[in-house]
Amino acid sequence: METAFYFCTACCFLIIFSNVSTAIDTISPAESLTDGMTLVSNGGTFVLGFFSPGTSENRYLGIWYNDIPVQTVVWVANRISPINDSTGLLQIQNGGRIVLQVRNTTAVWSSNTTASVRNPVLQLLDSGNLVVRDGNDNNPENYLWQSFDHPTDTILPGMKVGVDLRTGIDRRLSAWKNWDDPSPGDLTYGVDLEGSPEMVLWKGSEKYSLSGLWIGAGFSGAPTYSSNPIFDYNFVWNENEVYYIFFLKNQSVKLRNALNQSLSQSQIYTWNPESQTWQVFLALPIDYCDRYGLCGPNANCDSNKLPSCQCLPGFKPKSPQRWSSSDYSGGCEHSKPLNCQGGDDGFIRIANVKTPDTTNSWFNRTMNLRECRASCLRNCSCMGYSNLDITGGGSGCVMWSDDLLNIKQLQTEGQDLYVRVSASQAEQKKKPNVRLAIILTTVIGAFLVLLLVVCYIRRRRRKLRDEFGDKNVNDKENKEEDGDMELAVFEFGTITRATYNFSVDNKLGEGGFGPVYKGTLANGQEIAVKRLSKNSGQGLTEFKNEVKLIAKLQHRNLVRLLGCCIHGDERMLVYEYMPNRSLDAFIFDQENREILTWPKRFQIICGIARGLLYLHQDSRLRIIHRDLKASNVLLDSEMNPKISDFGMARAFGGDQTEANTNRVVGTYGYMAPEYATDGLFSVKSDVFSFGILLLEVISGRKSRGFYHANKSSNLIEHAWILWKEDKPLDVADDFLVNTGDLSELLRCIRISLLCVQQHPEERPSMSSVVHMLGSHNELPLPKQPGFLLNKKHVEPDSSTDMDASSSRNEISLSLIQPR
Ligand SMILES: *[C@@H]1O[C@H](CO)[C@@H](O)[C@H](O)[C@H]1NC(C)=O
Ligand SMILES: *[C@@H]1O[C@H](CO)[C@@H](O)[C@H](O)[C@H]1NC(C)=O
Ligand SMILES: *[C@@H]1O[C@H](CO)[C@@H](O)[C@H](O)[C@H]1NC(C)=O
Ligand SMILES: *[C@@H]1O[C@H](CO)[C@@H](O)[C@H](O)[C@H]1NC(C)=O
Ligand SMILES: *[C@@H]1O[C@H](CO)[C@@H](O)[C@H](O)[C@H]1NC(C)=O
Ligand SMILES: *[C@@H]1O[C@H](CO)[C@@H](O)[C@H](O)[C@H]1NC(C)=O
Ligand SMILES: *[C@@H]1O[C@H](CO)[C@@H](O)[C@H](O)[C@H]1NC(C)=O
Repeated sequence: METAFYFCTACCFLIIFSNVSTAIDTISPAESLTDGMTLVSNGGTFVLGFFSPGTSENRYLGIWYNDIPVQTVVWVANRISPINDSTGLLQIQNGGRIVLQVRNTTAVWSSNTTASVRNPVLQLLDSGNLVVRDGNDNNPENYLWQSFDHPTDTILPGMKVGVDLRTGIDRRLSAWKNWDDPSPGDLTYGVDLEGSPEMVLWKGSEKYSLSGLWIGAGFSGAPTYSSNPIFDYNFVWNENEVYYIFFLKNQSVKLRNALNQSLSQSQIYTWNPESQTWQVFLALPIDYCDRYGLCGPNANCDSNKLPSCQCLPGFKPKSPQRWSSSDYSGGCEHSKPLNCQGGDDGFIRIANVKTPDTTNSWFNRTMNLRECRASCLRNCSCMGYSNLDITGGGSGCVMWSDDLLNIKQLQTEGQDLYVRVSASQAEQKKKPNVRLAIILTTVIGAFLVLLLVVCYIRRRRRKLRDEFGDKNVNDKENKEEDGDMELAVFEFGTITRATYNFSVDNKLGEGGFGPVYKGTLANGQEIAVKRLSKNSGQGLTEFKNEVKLIAKLQHRNLVRLLGCCIHGDERMLVYEYMPNRSLDAFIFDQENREILTWPKRFQIICGIARGLLYLHQDSRLRIIHRDLKASNVLLDSEMNPKISDFGMARAFGGDQTEANTNRVVGTYGYMAPEYATDGLFSVKSDVFSFGILLLEVISGRKSRGFYHANKSSNLIEHAWILWKEDKPLDVADDFLVNTGDLSELLRCIRISLLCVQQHPEERPSMSSVVHMLGSHNELPLPKQPGFLLNKKHVEPDSSTDMDASSSRNEISLSLIQPR
């Protein structure tokens, strides 16, 4: 009865309220907001009301988006004092204090409005800010209280995160404990004022990840994100306030930055109106090198290297034993003692880094780099310095004392850090004549090298021109492309000559989109020509995509594209030739498999991982391969792996991590379940394919077409069953078990199972994979893998959980046309 009554009142209120809510978006002391009513912001974007999160039955007062179907709460008032029934009532009292009451008596939450005004009004602004204003005040931006000063777990555009030094208010976020409970978890995010200020993500009282210094146009940990197409951000740092803020570049985009307790991340989401879902645009920590102090003091973390932790130049591991067994916590120390008193120290420059933890730092905005250096040199406790602001040629000075902690190597942008070392190790030598000599030799040397390079380029250009001669004039697209990419466009005649008119003898194989031919140019250079079949479904757009992408990507574990050729509606790609063909020709071949011994295989695995990491993390483009498999890994003359076939890779703006596609491409047997069934691809679906590939390299068996008497219908399942039966090594090729390093083998099996886990968010990123391959640390336990079961091979008595996943995945089989 009672619930029915409440429900009815709620409905009536809702109806009455929604009738007037577009006109009235404020509450004054005579009115109140009860459970079931909502207050809509003036532009209709946000709504204030009572809600129950997840499966909880508790009621909370909160703000969520009004105009999207997924309830996304951005602010909660009574997050630590839930209401257990629907008697919640929000009122604004005469002075201006807002109070949330239950059962008409008990206050469970209130605003700490200090000022007292005659005519207070409560208003929800279209920015998502709930404010108390004086109705008589002509300045509508004079807030007595605002929810933006009391954030929960979400930053909205226009909201400040940080400290107001005048009022002492510290706007700090804390994650929800879990989906059902908005009370504060232990993950918090805010400004740390100690030393020089920076943004910090804490776990409990420990620092978890730092932004690095604000260096003018961005944080030194991610300087390029300031040029993203969606939002502008700023870090304001003056005597009154220190805060981080962002603004939308396009007001019709929805963007929020929320903390995620389970992943320990600060995630920036954008709303995708097509798929009606939130998508992660950027998450911090960006990779494991952003984890606080991962490499210990005086070391640099480079996620593109193995091992990732490297002592700074002029430093050596404090404990070489522990360091070599991948325990980096002890960090590094000077390899030659300093002689500060003798005035005999110098500095080594380390380019493109995220600055060290600023706790033990101090700064001066007016000093230039030279004064900064001199000042650091004078003070024996100063261990390093850098510019404060790198825009406009650099200005300001930051100096660090004690150990330098939390340095991360970036690839292209970032701060130059000068680290104190003993004079003999420093870049600049003291004696002027020596210095002069060095400068002279360097200059002369550089000049000679330059001369040689110029000559070489000239000669090569001429040669290329002679070789490929006239361009295909009847294709306009062709000319355009050539202009902005500087990619060699081969004449069709050159290609036919090189491949003996695509003779059968020259055919290397049938790639994803057509046959591949070996060719020899007139100058003797060997090439591989991929002749894209006309019915491959790859149109001009995709072709251009592939050509542009591959041309931009250069890494020693990626196949290099030399050029392309367009002849009528026929398109060809010209690659460097890989004499040892592809990985599948070895691992699945009874005669050749022993050529690839375990150390060689391990090296190949690490190479593939690094190549894929490069694709996923290159600062400007984020490439998802989408068709990683053994036949797409080519081997050069020294058996170094090179990933090929980016035809289906899609360029992201360096930001999106997940996208939805209605055209599933890829190869059955390597596809992640979420990709095969829902067309949802992400870097994590590549990680899945990598996991399969790893299993294949270890087992010497194909993922597809695998059949085992032991009921298992595919390789993952086979490996998983053996893992659960505690005999993981049984999955490996006997020849490897007999000759390889068993602990490394075991480690790789475990990594492969981590990569093929059912849930994409549980799979490691490629940077963690690279790290796991290179370290000896304990690995997490893999969870249930994502099966792509072929129902035919499943015995009727197979366990129920497999049945559940297979029935879901069965749909996928009709979607895919196995090649
Ligand atoms: C709600 O909590 C109050 C005490 O805070 C308690 O007296 C009441 O029984 C609870 N109601 C329900 C429905 O659990
Ligand atoms: C709340 O209490 C006031 C008096 O204190 C009373 O007038 C009002 O009707 C009560 N409201 C409800 C919903 O019980
Ligand atoms: C208001 O102030 C009281 C005491 O000063 C404090 O316990 C309470 O948490 C504050 N409430 C909010 C919402 O800040
Ligand atoms: C803003 O975003 C909307 C939706 O994403 C888009 O349609 C529109 O073209 C964008 N406007 C500008 C100026 O970029
Ligand atoms: C945390 O992030 C994961 C992956 O993006 C998502 O599935 C999960 O729902 C998020 N949790 C919360 C509380 O937002
Ligand atoms: C910064 O350095 C300049 C030049 O050395 C000096 O005059 C000034 O007092 C310094 N400022 C602070 C705040 O230390
Ligand atoms: C030297 O650096 C330390 C580091 O914190 C600082 O406290 C001290 O004032 C500096 N001394 C001079 C003379 O600048």
